Amino acid sequence: MREFLIAGNWKMNGGNAANGALISGIVAGVPSGSGFSLLVCPPFPYLSAVAAQIEGSAVKLGAQNVSEHESGAYTGEVAPAMLKDAGCDYVIVGHSERRAIYGESSFQVAAKFQAAQAAGLTPILCIGETLDERNEGATESVVDFQLNAVLDAAGIGAFGSAVVAYEPVWAIGTGMTATPEQAQAVHGHIRAQLAVLDEKIAAGVQILYGGSMKGENAAGLLAMPDIDGGLIGGASLKANDFLAIAAAAAQG
Ligand code: 13P
Repeated sequence: MREFLIAGNWKMNGGNAANGALISGIVAGVPSGSGFSLLVCPPFPYLSAVAAQIEGSAVKLGAQNVSEHESGAYTGEVAPAMLKDAGCDYVIVGHSERRAIYGESSFQVAAKFQAAQAAGLTPILCIGETLDERNEGATESVVDFQLNAVLDAAGIGAFGSAVVAYEPVWAIGTGMTATPEQAQAVHGHIRAQLAVLDEKIAAGVQILYGGSMKGENAAGLLAMPDIDGGLIGGASLKANDFLAIAAAAAQG
């Protein structure tokens, strides 16, 4: 019932020439089959250009961050409605790099999540533990805290039009990947937490895995019952690498 979502988080990478080549490679190689969609999340300045490049294709557009405010004196920020104007359907909120490097709290992330939804964007809420937290046995309490901040602010109903991404911080950009079993354990936990509040919404929400997903490990991760796609950094920057993951998601 849940489709796979294969999402590329380009982070602060790319440029006009590189993006053009990447997008044309992806668009030309979208696997046949069904049961999946593809999403790219370029840096802000390239959103409109990428929107034009993917027009008419099966590839969707998202942004990597958004302001929690609608408009006004917030120098350097980008409002949710502006992302809609640029052609976005999705926006990543609460990526661990935003939390760790830019000090975003779970409460600010919750405000961004709500602002995104109010503008008609689908938020992709990132949650996940650091290596120290995992080693302390705190994985579930960390993801619960991050999830609960959004549930408290937005309510379970909001997860009817949202995506969750479990991104263990220790697996991001490190080449270390959670095993399918490690990832499934946390994905299953996240879905169970949502199911306590609403079983139907929990059953429908896509929970993506992020953390060194690549062509070689995608099939094993995507075979897990509660893993509904990937949020991919490094391997989303080369068309063939991204398409290898897409191929693992394509059914039939
Ligand atoms: P990598 O795929 O490079 O580990 O990055 C994962 C990530 O942070 C996606 O948001």
